[in-house]
Amino acid sequence: MAYGEKVIDHYENPRNVGSFSKADLNIGTGMVGAPACGDVMKLQIKVNEQGIIEDAKFKTYGCGSAIASSSLLTEWVKGKTLEQAKQIKNTDIAAELDLPPVKIHCSVLAEDAIRTAIEDYQKKQAGA
Ligand code: FES
Ligand code: FES
Repeated sequence: MAYGEKVIDHYENPRNVGSFSKADLNIGTGMVGAPACGDVMKLQIKVNEQGIIEDAKFKTYGCGSAIASSSLLTEWVKGKTLEQAKQIKNTDIAAELDLPPVKIHCSVLAEDAIRTAIEDYQKKQAGA
């Protein structure tokens, strides 16, 4: 299968790989798995007092497209509000990376991960 240049770039030079301490109140963590292939993606956001995502990190145990999707997503969410970050669709990621149809679920994984991370963050705030 031919991969697009942007996928290869993000795969070879992934942005923002790593993790934050899950316990911190300003961190939201989204850990999701893809039923289709068993790949797992962890995406974390660090939110500042203004409600802006100031940093994001990921770890993805999966295919090149999943790694590229999460890498791209961490770049996109930085500087966004939680509401803006929620608007990012897997179709935006798939279009930017030019993913082939069999790899669309990899971008779905990224969308699920960011949503789960935002929910986790909001739950923490509600409980604080
Ligand atoms: Fe999981 Fe892509 S099928 S690596
Ligand atoms: Fe399953 Fe990419 S996440 S093949």
